[in-house]
Amino acid sequence: MEEKTQAYSKEVLALAKNPKHFGRMNDPSASAYLKGICGDDMEFYLIIKNKIIENAQFYTQTGCEATKACGSTAAQFVIGKSVDDAMDISPKKILEALNYGLPENHRHCSILAVSTFYKALACHLLLD
Ligand code: FES
Repeated sequence: MEEKTQAYSKEVLALAKNPKHFGRMNDPSASAYLKGICGDDMEFYLIIKNKIIENAQFYTQTGCEATKACGSTAAQFVIGKSVDDAMDISPKKILEALNYGLPENHRHCSILAVSTFYKALACHLLLD
């Protein structure tokens, strides 16, 4: 555990302890659920009005610290952006925002966060 913790950046540790934009949302414009290959799950909720993402939240029941940090960062990245601009998000941008503070075996958490966001956005684009 000690070794694992040392691999996390201070940005990851702060968000793991106090995740931002965390929680389920009632009545979102779109939402999605994904289960990663490791077994961690993520839900993503979006409120979109006039093609602007006014709010975003994520939730994970089984997710580790890295999952929470990546979900927080993904939500923070897209809030206030147009749908088109939010499509710039990528796992690499999550890793950059977290100062590359995820150990190699937790970098896939950024992929889960971004993939869950994109699934929710795809639902919105399909149903809009
Ligand atoms: Fe697999 Fe975080 S450990 S998504």
